[in-house]
Amino acid sequence: MARKIIVTSALPYANGPIHIGHLVEYIQTDIWVRFQKMSGNECLYFCADDTHGTPVMISARAAGVPAEDLIEKVRKEHQVDFAGFYIEFDNYYTTHSPENKHFSELIFKRLSEHNSIFRKIVKQTYCEKCKMALPDRYVRGTCPRCNAADQYGDSCEVCGGTYQCSDLINPYCATCASVPTFQMSEHYFFRLRDFENQLKELIAGGYTDRLVSNKLQEWFAAGLKDWDISRDGPYFGFKIPGEQDKYFYVWLDAPVGYMASVKNYCDKNNLDFDKLWNSGEYELYHFIGKDIMYFHALFWPAMLLGAGFKLANRLFVHGFLTVNGEKMSKSRGTFIKAGTYLEHLDPEYMRYYYASKLTDSIDDIDLSVEDFVNRINSNLVGKLANLASRSVPMLTKALGGKLGRLDGRGSELIRKLVSAKSRIVQDYEGRNYAAVVRSVIDLADEANRYVEQNQPWVTVKDDLETTRKTLTATINSFRILTIYLKPILPKYAQNVQKFLNAGEFNFSDVDIVLENHKINSFERLVERVDREKVITMINESKETKGPEPKEKETETESIKPECTIEDFAKIDLRVAKVIGAEKVEGADKLLRLELDVGGAQKTVLAAIARAYEPDDLAGWLVVYFANLKPRKMRFGISEGMILAAGTGGEDIFMLSADDGAKPGQKIS
Ligand code: MSP
Ligand code: ZN
Repeated sequence: MARKIIVTSALPYANGPIHIGHLVEYIQTDIWVRFQKMSGNECLYFCADDTHGTPVMISARAAGVPAEDLIEKVRKEHQVDFAGFYIEFDNYYTTHSPENKHFSELIFKRLSEHNSIFRKIVKQTYCEKCKMALPDRYVRGTCPRCNAADQYGDSCEVCGGTYQCSDLINPYCATCASVPTFQMSEHYFFRLRDFENQLKELIAGGYTDRLVSNKLQEWFAAGLKDWDISRDGPYFGFKIPGEQDKYFYVWLDAPVGYMASVKNYCDKNNLDFDKLWNSGEYELYHFIGKDIMYFHALFWPAMLLGAGFKLANRLFVHGFLTVNGEKMSKSRGTFIKAGTYLEHLDPEYMRYYYASKLTDSIDDIDLSVEDFVNRINSNLVGKLANLASRSVPMLTKALGGKLGRLDGRGSELIRKLVSAKSRIVQDYEGRNYAAVVRSVIDLADEANRYVEQNQPWVTVKDDLETTRKTLTATINSFRILTIYLKPILPKYAQNVQKFLNAGEFNFSDVDIVLENHKINSFERLVERVDREKVITMINESKETKGPEPKEKETETESIKPECTIEDFAKIDLRVAKVIGAEKVEGADKLLRLELDVGGAQKTVLAAIARAYEPDDLAGWLVVYFANLKPRKMRFGISEGMILAAGTGGEDIFMLSADDGAKPGQKIS
């Protein structure tokens, strides 16, 4: 039975352009939605711009335009960027909409009736000159802990400390530099604690993955806090009913924007909102980044519970993008806007690259320039597209473009490819796209081996029918692999559909073999990445002025999953002595180390070649991760790992043991 599914991605802020960090999420979601559609399920993908809040108001003031104009302009730009990456929404709306106002007020009313809203007087920072209350990130001053100048009102980027805005030394308004005052104001609060038990049950029921629920347990343990959901005017947002100059805090109406986008779609298409959002007929999933878990795993479900709406079935949380191992940075040129990327590179490179790194975990994902170029050129171009570019033109030129029938070995190859389907489907469903890409590349290796063995470029000279058989198997393999990758590479797949002349690909087409079928002429699918273009793009993104962007106000810290002492006890660290070291041909970062680990000898491939000369290493006593599962790398098997500090490349320092230590000794 076909499933009915509603999917959302987090609503991007209207105060800035889409960048490659955002794209992790929208590409991840789009792939999942396309996968569901290709599997015969009904799947609708909703999003919107998140338009309210102080930053938008201030940008609009600075530009001298009404906030409404600014958000419409940004929304159009966002939509152009998304379309440029083939991200296809069923509805892309705005939170500044009548539907959103309606639902926000309704939810607020129901929560009030439920006694989950109360009022309390708070002390807030105020700028007399700007005539507004200042959120923490609009106050700057000297850090009360380390005395670093020019820090934000809530946290210091130098010492990492967090504090109350009123503790800042010499505070000033980030907009006009005048000294802020403090004022008392009555705010509305949401009693999150009322929902503690229901939320715990929800989490225990599998609303989030385990790593996320571990984090939530910490928050429960720390105690759920009441949530301030109002802001004083001037503010760009929805006025709180019955109030003169108080507004809903942007984070109250932002998630309601999911519902509003669905409602707007239903009205446009004559559909019943209650059936889509509020009945069991449709499954509902939210994709989000790990920085906004608190809102989506606690506040949002609590609001829905209190207001009597259905909750999402599950929350899918992804990690953050780093570039070359570091946070995106304007000065390094790695804060790359979607639009800048599109001026230089093919969007499908990015879709493929992110897919090849994405799993179901909340680990950060790293974009490394070398790895990017390498994965596209050797795998996507060299292994996949190559299957077609070496066989399709031959079939059209020498054999009238007509496929024949499979022979025994051809059938065997195709059977193997088809039998991978259930695993691939499962990996897509579980958001393990990295595993999908790995499976497809392995199968492509298999198909390329078949081509090598059958040498169609030789047989074509004197045995056309054998050649036709070989090409029939090759092209069918290529077709199946393209179907597997279609959610990731929609444009590429479309070109393949065109020249294979066999209609739209769906997952059910994997089981069909094209025989005695006429194909059209070949279209080039994907170019090799030119490394220079990547470098130009980075150089063009470099900005020297101004501080690094502080992404937003959130109530979460950056997280690494917690590690218990039991987890740590699983790691067997040993002293090892380097007895030999050599460069690895073809891998300029790697050294192959021979280690004496006390009786046994082990080989480890270590990415330290930029920092160490092999000849200098003999005799070193290093820290060896002994029970790491051996990993098969392109250059051989690496048995374990040695520990080092630093970010990689030249910045790497092997950890070593004191001279008296013996190889094999346990480190504790
Ligand atoms: N407006 C809020 C979301 C409201 S949802 C009801 C917001 N906007 S955002 O523009 O900052 O981020 C939108 C999504 O992109 C979030 O899920 C966020 O985690 C994700 N990402 C933003 N920067 C990112 C990276 N650098 N890396 C990966 N994902 C990132 O949060
Ligand atoms: Zn000011």
